[in-house]
Amino acid sequence: MSKVIVFDHPLIQHKLSIMRESTTGVKEFRELLEEISMLMIYEVTRDLPTEEVEIETPICKCKARKLAGRKLAVVPILRAGLGMVDGVLNMVPAAKVGHIGLYRDPQTLEPVEYYCKLPADSEEREILVVDPMLATGGSASAAINFIKKRGCNHIRLVNLIAAPEGIERMQKDHPDVDIYVAGLDDHLNDHGYIVPGLGDAGDRLFGTK
Ligand code: PRP
Ligand code: URA
Repeated sequence: MSKVIVFDHPLIQHKLSIMRESTTGVKEFRELLEEISMLMIYEVTRDLPTEEVEIETPICKCKARKLAGRKLAVVPILRAGLGMVDGVLNMVPAAKVGHIGLYRDPQTLEPVEYYCKLPADSEEREILVVDPMLATGGSASAAINFIKKRGCNHIRLVNLIAAPEGIERMQKDHPDVDIYVAGLDDHLNDHGYIVPGLGDAGDRLFGTK
């Protein structure tokens, strides 16, 4: 069974509350999503291995630690996942970026794929799939299926807000993928929106409504 890590850091909670408010405009929404993503990545990467290396400071040679092991790739689920990429890259500038295009059919709520481009060496990387919303879990589960078909087996899912239904679906379909969220909400409404949520993440990020 995968782990679900809910971030209770006061800065993350404060920023998330502003994002949820319906009066928050596109510019502030986008900036806050980037900031929260940056703060979340700090914790998501806490268990990455390091190795001892020798470095030279202006004073002397010394032993120090640097990242070791698998390199990272960040894979946003389009569109709204794009809003989390810069936050990750601010912290891990060497990460490569893949893209998966999916949208949720408004009638069936099933994900429809329209694009998939991953780094050539992605099977050797630790993959961070990012998407602000985990609602039914259909989009995240399908995206991770595509990524696994490319031979990737080290995957983490990073969401801003998740519904219990999405967590349950993910844990059933992908018990090997740990899930990191800033907010775990109450339920989905009849249209598949997270309650209380923040509305349509893509529309709020890109101003399309
Ligand atoms: C949103 C969101 C997720 C998906 C979550 O995208 O960014 O990808 O819905 O819903 P699910 O867990 O029920 O699949 P949407 O389909 O609205 O596409 P968009 O980002 O292009 O607006
Ligand atoms: N997608 C969104 O953008 N918001 C939700 O609440 C659910 C799915």
